[in-house]
Amino acid sequence: MKTTGGIESSLTLPVSPLNRFERVPIQIVESAESASRLVAGEIARLIRLKQKLGQRTVLGLATGSTPLAVYRELVRLHREEGLSFRDVVTFNLDEYFPMSQSQTQSYRWFMDEHLFRHIDIPVEHTHVPDGQIPSQEVPHTCQAYEKAILAVGGIDLQILGIGRTGHIGFNEPGSTRRSRTRLITLDHVTRRDNAPNFPRGDMVPHQALTMGIATILEARRILLLAFGEHKADTIYQSFEQEPSATIPASFLQEHDNVCVILDAGASLRLTRVRTPWLTGPLADLGLVWDDPMIRRAVVWLATGKNKPLLKLTDSDYNEKGLDELLANHGPAYNINLKVFRAIQNTITGWPSGRPNELAGKEPRRIVVFSPHPDDDVISMGGTLLRLAEQGHEVHVAHQVTGSMSVSDQAIDRYIRFSRESLRITASNDRPTTIPRADELSPEQLRSLKFLIRQIEAVHAASVCQIPEKRLHFLALPFYETGRITKSPVGAQDVKIVMDLLDSIKPHQIYAAGDLADPHGTHYLCLQAVVAALQQLSQREWMKDCTPWLYRGAWQSWDIHEIDMAVPLSPGELMRKRRAIFQHETQKDQVMFLADDQREFWQRAEERARDMARFYDKLGLAEYEALETFARLRIETMSETPSIIAI
Ligand code: F6R
Repeated sequence: MKTTGGIESSLTLPVSPLNRFERVPIQIVESAESASRLVAGEIARLIRLKQKLGQRTVLGLATGSTPLAVYRELVRLHREEGLSFRDVVTFNLDEYFPMSQSQTQSYRWFMDEHLFRHIDIPVEHTHVPDGQIPSQEVPHTCQAYEKAILAVGGIDLQILGIGRTGHIGFNEPGSTRRSRTRLITLDHVTRRDNAPNFPRGDMVPHQALTMGIATILEARRILLLAFGEHKADTIYQSFEQEPSATIPASFLQEHDNVCVILDAGASLRLTRVRTPWLTGPLADLGLVWDDPMIRRAVVWLATGKNKPLLKLTDSDYNEKGLDELLANHGPAYNINLKVFRAIQNTITGWPSGRPNELAGKEPRRIVVFSPHPDDDVISMGGTLLRLAEQGHEVHVAHQVTGSMSVSDQAIDRYIRFSRESLRITASNDRPTTIPRADELSPEQLRSLKFLIRQIEAVHAASVCQIPEKRLHFLALPFYETGRITKSPVGAQDVKIVMDLLDSIKPHQIYAAGDLADPHGTHYLCLQAVVAALQQLSQREWMKDCTPWLYRGAWQSWDIHEIDMAVPLSPGELMRKRRAIFQHETQKDQVMFLADDQREFWQRAEERARDMARFYDKLGLAEYEALETFARLRIETMSETPSIIAI
């Protein structure tokens, strides 16, 4: 077991066949929260041990959303368990350039806000690269930063996040193994990912000061954390592929005391998770060839072979490493047929039950949770339409206000309209009372933005035949921070969701399982639903209630995950488009669309069409489009929503 300054780490993994594709020790943990507790625990043990030895601890720190829970836990350990940071020295990885320390987007501000001002660390022990120096001083300042690290004996423990470009610190693609602290130009993907922290996307600085790869690799121990499916691909490339400057995090493979800690979402592309049969006999890995595993393997095989399910042969199975499956469940035709039938059974035009199944029963009561006010129509607009047209009582619960994604220009437009319409319609002696947008307080602006989103949602719902009285704007408090960084989901959020469900007593619940949205709101919204369902699990109505997860704008399900696929006709697809169009303010939110510049209606439509094409290629019926759902299995729910959709 590796040690850091003499401390044993609970995170270093023995090499097992399970992770023989992985080039660094990787630990997959239940949730971001438990990962953060593990990491904070290791930091605390190190600090305490070194304190006993009369030594100081040197920590390398990161900013961004990933380490936030680690910092929260460190603050708790300080307040409740007396962990002292008096002898701790810190070096942050990076800072925007140019950037004044007093700006709320600066990493100095971030560290003060989330850690430093809550603990007893002397301010002179904290180092963040200085983004406010004149350009000519950059080379000297960068060298001084390196020297300062050396002067305290180097970094004992470095915490890292990872960007979607594969950056650690701000070492963007192209950064070499030998790079040191320096000025770097940010990749456009990084600027786009970080844009929501700035009032306008174009205000994200183009450059940053960052420790180099060589600087980072000199730390005695490195812990990299990554959470969420949007990181899964980068994680795979960083730690299962050859190291290269194209994915700078891959250089961590050269470090002999690194551990990567992932939640289920971030681990999805690892071989042991995605295609475990390639790592060896399943039994060795504690897994079995049950129906879901067989379905997964066979869909993977058919996709790789570019063949319909029923045409896969014994040799296809053998050639692609599925010999164990074939030997135990073959011949190929039997397996093919079993999987074909299972997938065919997912298709239904009656998402809430066929008329003969529902004969004599009251119309189904359905609650669709929509994280933002437009997710319902984007992800399941066609299904909403069907449910309403099939006579069910469809409620839509809009979980957050969505005010963050209404631009100031949009508000300006609406206010102008209101002022002018008042002028046109009011009698001459009545003054115009609506202030200009720039005269409004931030709270008033937020309320107006929420109002606009409510009106858009009402119009979108009416396209889907859902009356206004069935819309519930929950405005969950966790979202209302006024900033992109959200609060954790709290008891109040969960209670609001519980009260709604208790008042409707639904037969079906639909919630967003789209966990790769860039700012984590969907994840938190699902957490609120999961927590509410757990607390309501003993209610009588829950016995007759099926919860579903949908996906739409940000990701699709893999075919093996789908439990229900609802076909849409060309006409239904057009109505869905019209419903999405009602969310006019979302058309100018290109900055929030990350890499994918298509508008939401385009993505939603292409996703649904792609899914139909995929079913067709597997040899199933050919539809125009499919909206797909996975059962949310309450019995297997943990605090991590990302592992629910199995
Ligand atoms: C931050 C840093 C970056 C972030 C990375 C991930 O100091 O150096 O490498 O760790 O961009 O950001 P989040 O955690 O916001 O996804």
